[in-house]
Amino acid sequence: MTGQEEYPTAGRRPRGAAPLARVRPARLAVDGGIPVRTAPWPTYDKGAVDVDRRDEEATLQAVRSHLYFRYDYRAPHETECGRFESQLRDYFGSKHALATSSGTTALALCLMAAGIPPGSLVACQGFTFAATPSAIILAGCTPFLVEVDENLHLDLNDLRRRWTPAIKAIMVVHMRGFAADMDALTDFAAEMGVPVFEDAVPALGAELRGRKLGTIGLAGAFSTQSDKSLNAGEGGFLLTDDSELYARAVVLSGAYEGRLRWHFPDGDPPIATDLDLPLFSFRMDEIRAALLRSELTRLQLRLDRFHANYSRVAAELGGLPQIAIRQPVAAGAYLGEAFIFRVLGADAKWFTRALRAEGIEARFLGCDEDHNVRVFWNWRFMYGSMDVASVQALLPGTTAYLMHCVDIPLSSTLCGQDCEDLVGAVRKVACAAGRAGRG
Ligand SMILES: Cc1ncc(COP(=O)(O)O)c(C=O)c1O
Repeated sequence: MTGQEEYPTAGRRPRGAAPLARVRPARLAVDGGIPVRTAPWPTYDKGAVDVDRRDEEATLQAVRSHLYFRYDYRAPHETECGRFESQLRDYFGSKHALATSSGTTALALCLMAAGIPPGSLVACQGFTFAATPSAIILAGCTPFLVEVDENLHLDLNDLRRRWTPAIKAIMVVHMRGFAADMDALTDFAAEMGVPVFEDAVPALGAELRGRKLGTIGLAGAFSTQSDKSLNAGEGGFLLTDDSELYARAVVLSGAYEGRLRWHFPDGDPPIATDLDLPLFSFRMDEIRAALLRSELTRLQLRLDRFHANYSRVAAELGGLPQIAIRQPVAAGAYLGEAFIFRVLGADAKWFTRALRAEGIEARFLGCDEDHNVRVFWNWRFMYGSMDVASVQALLPGTTAYLMHCVDIPLSSTLCGQDCEDLVGAVRKVACAAGRAGRG
């Protein structure tokens, strides 16, 4: 502590204290000052996951049953996978649900089961996890990358401008939990005569104008890997109202020797044979389904916490002139598990470093030093030996926006103090950036 004027808690303004402009600002931790926090920022890979005793018990019961394969002598309503799918249908109001081995396989199944011909272009945005283009490739298609706008939503104007008849589907991503503009996209897709699939992996449970993400396009895919609203370490599922698509996805996922019938207990499946399609073994197992079934009963609590934390942080930082917080396409149309903002008039790389020194696990999306798989120029599997600058030039708008973006994970386990620390740290760094004009 260097003097009375400095905030005692390094960046947090105590109740009743003078506004920032009138006190001597705290020295940034990156410059040798006291960090806002020293406790590790809560993330799933540090064990900060929302699994309670009931979830553990449910999983143990499945382990003790010794019945681990989803298809055996039992009827669907007697199995963990069958019950999980039934719970998903109820929760999402979807006609069909299929549990899968991962989000990536669920995405690929959507394309394959919809009959998108191998070799087609599938449009998806340039800001997504590498799994989205990977799933397109897994389905035998080629990703056609589209720009994002300043709020990191798929830029429909760019897609319209560069449209080609070789594009046979749109795979839109609700990236970092923020809903894409589904109304505009589905209108556009209808005009072009192609289906829209939703990569709802980052947005499990989030809604857009009262509709759950993942239920708006022809089919939606989700992951239950660790960093998601439902966490089983691995796994995923797809949702659709299209019975033929569902039936084909069931077979492709590995339901052989009549097991397709298992998924249509009330009548004949809408496809005649399950031997016309290859079997990819993209199934879920009973142990994982048991864990997820238990977690699903408390999903709403977790979603409420995400929203509450996010709203609190966004409201408190909303007025800061040094940052522009990512805006949703409609009120509340986000999950709330990531806080993303653009840094205005300062260097986002420096800003991120300063936040990390304050104890906040921030990530600079445009960073050239980490191998962030969310930015398209790191997808060597698409661009081979092409140099980074040339790849970035393919989507100059997306590159420019990502070069200013800071991304902070907001676990549903965040407590009030964590939120306060985050707000204090961003304010502290923003004020320093404003003073120094750090560019
Ligand atoms: C946007 C997006 N799509 C797809 C996936 C793939 O999910 P999984 O890891 O279950 O294959 C991820 C994983 O985090 C993701 O973030």
